[in-house]
Amino acid sequence: MSTISLTVNGIAVVDVIDDRTTLADFLRDHLNLTGTHLACEHGVCGACTVLVDEVPIRACITLALSVEGKSARTIEDFEDDPKMEVIRECFSEAHGLQCGFCTSGMVLTVRDMIQRGRCVNEQEIRRELAGNLCRCTGYSGIVKATELARDRLKNSAV
Ligand code: FES
Ligand code: FES
Repeated sequence: MSTISLTVNGIAVVDVIDDRTTLADFLRDHLNLTGTHLACEHGVCGACTVLVDEVPIRACITLALSVEGKSARTIEDFEDDPKMEVIRECFSEAHGLQCGFCTSGMVLTVRDMIQRGRCVNEQEIRRELAGNLCRCTGYSGIVKATELARDRLKNSAV
């Protein structure tokens, strides 16, 4: 067992955890942040995507102790985020989700892509989203939602 201290969604957290606890299990089981979903648990599907020091990572294959002293942000931290508000609207309008299981990881990745300017066309969007798997939508709605969000955010002050 080890003590971990980090910032989660802007709040300082100190806890004692098993050394092999993944960041995903720590967030879900210790902090009740269940918006971070678990599917493959092998680093393949992107459902568990969170930001660590503003960079998207896979929480299922990241040991919580490796995030010691860093800042983690989960989907719950984006409820009032103006960019995420636009992205959510676009996903809803363009039918970018069905069951929603992939969606928290998907929209965190889309927000990051838009911030990095890595969604200039459909080909690039599909390439950037290759690490986020969706079993429902067939991806067309997700690509359309991303294009819509990219264009709206380009023309807005947020
Ligand atoms: S649950 Fe982490 S990548 Fe699939
Ligand atoms: S909306 Fe169901 S897995 Fe993507």
